[in-house]
Amino acid sequence: MTSHIHNQEEINKQIKDFIAEILKQDRPDSHLITVLHKAQELNGYLSREVMDLVSQEMNIPTSTIWGVATFYHYFKLNPIGKYNISVCMGTACYVKGASEILETLKEELGIGVGETTEDMLFSMHEARCIGACGLAPVAMINDKIYGELTPKKITDIINKLRKEEETK
Ligand code: FES
Repeated sequence: MTSHIHNQEEINKQIKDFIAEILKQDRPDSHLITVLHKAQELNGYLSREVMDLVSQEMNIPTSTIWGVATFYHYFKLNPIGKYNISVCMGTACYVKGASEILETLKEELGIGVGETTEDMLFSMHEARCIGACGLAPVAMINDKIYGELTPKKITDIINKLRKEEETK
């Protein structure tokens, strides 16, 4: 299979196949969450198109699907970059200059909070205290915590990740 991630047709087909299996079971609509999980796993997030597809295939109104997708924080309604950056804006981090870190990232990546870069590498979010106040100001990139940040430090981290991607 070539360029698996970007082949929407292939993704849609896999979602349809998954639903077809679910439809063979009793009360298929009770499996909506399972289907949405699978759809997100395959597509990376729940786009409008993906939700429409699920709606069609399962014969469940889009409004119901939308309701479920927005109710659970687990479901992502926007594409998320490969590196998901959460800048802690909790009190300890805020006092130690978290907004400067956020501003630096906005400038460096050219995106706002809740957005993703066009190359799909970086997403940025604000977070509440992530329990590492001793290291304030702190950001998380995917599962990794980066502490005692300065504008220079966060810029270096971003550039290092970019370099790593280039050499892949
Ligand atoms: S306030 Fe940022 S880690 Fe606690």
